[in-house]
Amino acid sequence: MQSLLPPQVDAHLVELVKAQHLDPVLDDMERRADANRFPIVGRAVGRFLELQARMIGAQRVVELGSGFGYSAYWFAGAVEAGGPGGEVVCTDTDPANAALAEQYLRRAGRWDRVRYHIGDALEGLAAVDGEVDVVYCDIDKQGYPAAWAAAAERLRVGGLFLCDNVLWDGRVAGLTPSGHDDDRRLAATDRPGAQDRPGAQDRPGAQDRPGAQDGPGAQDRRAAVTDAIVAMTREVAQDPRYVSAINPVRDGVLVALRVT
Ligand SMILES: C[S@@+](CC[C@H](N)C(=O)[O-])C[C@H]1O[C@@H](n2cnc3c(N)ncnc32)[C@H](O)[C@@H]1O
Repeated sequence: MQSLLPPQVDAHLVELVKAQHLDPVLDDMERRADANRFPIVGRAVGRFLELQARMIGAQRVVELGSGFGYSAYWFAGAVEAGGPGGEVVCTDTDPANAALAEQYLRRAGRWDRVRYHIGDALEGLAAVDGEVDVVYCDIDKQGYPAAWAAAAERLRVGGLFLCDNVLWDGRVAGLTPSGHDDDRRLAATDRPGAQDRPGAQDRPGAQDRPGAQDGPGAQDRRAAVTDAIVAMTREVAQDPRYVSAINPVRDGVLVALRVT
């Protein structure tokens, strides 16, 4: 996974997190992500997400796009710190991811804080009663505008909308990334229906299928994805109910605080 930061700076951020918090389960999850080119947020962003949730004493976190539980690991730590009743609602269309998340998060002693909805992320959010402290968005990028529209209504005043990949390897500012990670991520999670195939993203080499990056319409899909991310971030920035900023760590994390 590429970061927009120079590799040395990125490594420095990761080492600082490791110095505070070591867990072999996290190492194993990162190894799985590397081996399968599965896009997890990584340590520096994981810690940042946990920090955001802790800072508002979050007890009800809903993740849109949980994969095999890496980002949920961090949110589960935050809700545990916030009190006895907190929970993280995970969502993902892929049941194989739910099974893996259970394995890892049980080992880490965090599964009792997690409820995993297998299916569409917005349906999972709709099934949660009442106001929510944090909505974290990491689904297919073309779904970002709809995710924001749904989340904005559900967050309490003082709650946070957090969203990953909002800089999209610089494409949101017209850059063309030199590596192919962006294309792989598109192939992995953003092709229509890609996330519906059991284990589709978690199969070794799935993203490296011949033609995965350059098939017909790949450029149009990339442009549509970038447009969706930009449209969503502009809507957030202009919403008078929210104060927002983007942390450019790794691929950019949007933080929007509900103020009214
Ligand atoms: C980038 S990965 C999530 C990684 C995870 N947040 C982490 O850092 O550990 C995106 C995940 O979202 C799932 N996904 C994509 N679109 C979705 C949707 N509309 N509803 C539910 N899950 C979705 C994919 O199956 C994939 O596992």
